[in-house]
Amino acid sequence: MTVLEAIQHSAGFLARKGVESPRLQAELLLAHALGMPRLKLYLDFEQPLTAANLEAVRELVRRRGTREPLQHILGSTSFCGFEIKVNRHVLVPRPETEMLAESAWQFLAARGPSPAAVLDFGTGSGCLAIAVAARCPTAQVHAVDVSVEALRVARANAALNNLNAQIQFHSGDGFDPLPRELEFDLIVSNPPYIPSAEIATLAPEVRDHDPRLALDGGGDGLDFYRRLAAEAANHLRPAGRLILESGEGQSEQICQLFVQHKWVVEKVEADYTARPRILTLRFAADVKHGSTV
Ligand SMILES: C[S@@+](CC[C@H](N)C(=O)[O-])C[C@H]1O[C@@H](n2cnc3c(N)ncnc32)[C@H](O)[C@@H]1O
Repeated sequence: MTVLEAIQHSAGFLARKGVESPRLQAELLLAHALGMPRLKLYLDFEQPLTAANLEAVRELVRRRGTREPLQHILGSTSFCGFEIKVNRHVLVPRPETEMLAESAWQFLAARGPSPAAVLDFGTGSGCLAIAVAARCPTAQVHAVDVSVEALRVARANAALNNLNAQIQFHSGDGFDPLPRELEFDLIVSNPPYIPSAEIATLAPEVRDHDPRLALDGGGDGLDFYRRLAAEAANHLRPAGRLILESGEGQSEQICQLFVQHKWVVEKVEADYTARPRILTLRFAADVKHGSTV
């Protein structure tokens, strides 16, 4: 079987299994099995595959056909250009979360060169902490997660990207594990935001392979936003910002929630499909510091 025939055959199989973009996925799996960049396949379309290559690609395609995520099969993904290892203990980083990283960079750049303290709340694979630390070398980044297994992955990713010295990881529930004296110039978070009952309706790649802890936002999906609205101000410096990702269709409700807790919505940015997803918030300082209303 040639490279082209293997791609066509695999793409047909993946399409029948309901996998999105089956041709692209087949090419990526074949390139992985052959240890070459995907585009190089195009130069080798007529090359016959060895029996060993064929067996290797068959196994990868079989796994993808069970709807195991491509990133789990490949073992890693790219987030803002950084390599991030993933497994079943962490959410696979999503493209829209790269926009949250970009907003964080912009805020830190506009703030000037003085060192900033940044918190990544619910770090998962560590992708946000890593992207912020790498692009803002003077920032001291802290990352918290309740999942010990996720933190193991995040620490390995920090090491992979040579950022161990710049990121401190904390294990525990919400703000609890953080030293009391720590205050942040920026808190970023992509919290779990799927309403509990909706999880069963998601694509198998998400429903069966992303950790439930990373998805489940409670009955209406907003539990973590309530918690952040009530607690985050106590951990922010006066000119600090909270930048959050929200689920589709949740932004308006989340903004209302924060406004009720005396936050100011500074910016709402849309994702690549023009849906409002990234919220920048600051706490009304006069209220926080108790002098006036
Ligand atoms: C949606 S994932 C985001 C992961 C990563 N920041 C990203 O954007 O890809 C949410 C993360 O929050 C963590 N988490 C859930 N409940 C938590 C809690 N009570 N305290 C701290 N982290 C929590 C989950 O383990 C998960 O890693």
